[in-house]
Amino acid sequence: MALAERTPARRRVLLASDRDDHSEDLANILENLGDVERISTQDMPDSPAGRYAGVVVDIDLTSIDSVRAIRRKLTSRTYQSLPRLFVLADGVRLESIQAWSLGATDTIRWPFDAEDILQRVRASFPDIAGGATSAAQALDAGIAAANTVMVKIFERLPAGTPLTLDDVMQAELKILKALRRTSLREWLRAIDKHHNRTYRHCLQVTGYTVAFAQHLGMREDDQRRLTRAALIHDVGKAYIPLAILDKTTALTPREEIELSKHTQIGFDVLKSHGEFPREMLDVVLHHHEMLDGTGYPDGLKGQEIADLVRMLTVADMFTLLVEERPDSPPMSNADAFTVLESLAGKLDMDMVRAFRPVAYGA
Ligand SMILES: [Fe+2]
Ligand SMILES: [Fe+2]
Repeated sequence: MALAERTPARRRVLLASDRDDHSEDLANILENLGDVERISTQDMPDSPAGRYAGVVVDIDLTSIDSVRAIRRKLTSRTYQSLPRLFVLADGVRLESIQAWSLGATDTIRWPFDAEDILQRVRASFPDIAGGATSAAQALDAGIAAANTVMVKIFERLPAGTPLTLDDVMQAELKILKALRRTSLREWLRAIDKHHNRTYRHCLQVTGYTVAFAQHLGMREDDQRRLTRAALIHDVGKAYIPLAILDKTTALTPREEIELSKHTQIGFDVLKSHGEFPREMLDVVLHHHEMLDGTGYPDGLKGQEIADLVRMLTVADMFTLLVEERPDSPPMSNADAFTVLESLAGKLDMDMVRAFRPVAYGA
């Protein structure tokens, strides 16, 4: 047998488009990763298996005809395992809902940001990363896995698809490996451009929490528990209006109260699913509690707050200080750490001190 026949075919990206206006630009960007096959939705092949790393869908998601045409293909058995990215052109919420209902692995926005798109494609289409180093592949796989959990929490859960413990656990090992093989800095850089503020927050908290657990040399099993807890800690925000979550100016006192309900809502939702361990429910409900009893929702004090929750609270508060906020510019890592140190009595100071290298290393 000739060598050429034994070499597996190079994976291509399928670009399904009925938008001639901007698909040309998109095809040019995607060609940085490999061959791009651009076709109309009518001409999509019946059996893509093994031939494509994934499909990028650039159609008018507000058109019933366009959506109907592609739904037939994407929901067929032969497309089931193919990752898919959707272009959202107008920022209309309907587009986003359609994309997720068609099984989106992720979405990209028009106007296009080439670097952001390439990062998302690599994360969503693992097979395309043929030339990348294995560390970069581990990072992409970890981010893709974490992002999938975010989609399940923030898109599918409020639409009625229950989140399962297995959904969360499936992502843990890939996230731990990504941070072990690369670094917290690389993890944060990779998620820095995520278009969704709430996803970005949860992915940052996950990065800081995992790096904290790995820095402390915690057992693999404990690292996994913390990864799990970080991923879902803000699950209740899936039920908070986007007008509050994405607000670009300071929240009013009434909006602050609305937002603070995410702890109780998240707890109630996961508890109703019946399979989440008590310690995960505890993190969801109590990650805004303070040791002096000034936190919410239960005003717990001291020993009433579990160690797992305390660790998560340190990573969460640090993230809240260094991330982009509507009411004030992000703080430097050093300034944010100084704020944590000033919260003696509220935060566990042993944990804050242990967190210092993580805070400064990022
Ligand atoms: Fe929270
Ligand atoms: Fe949070």
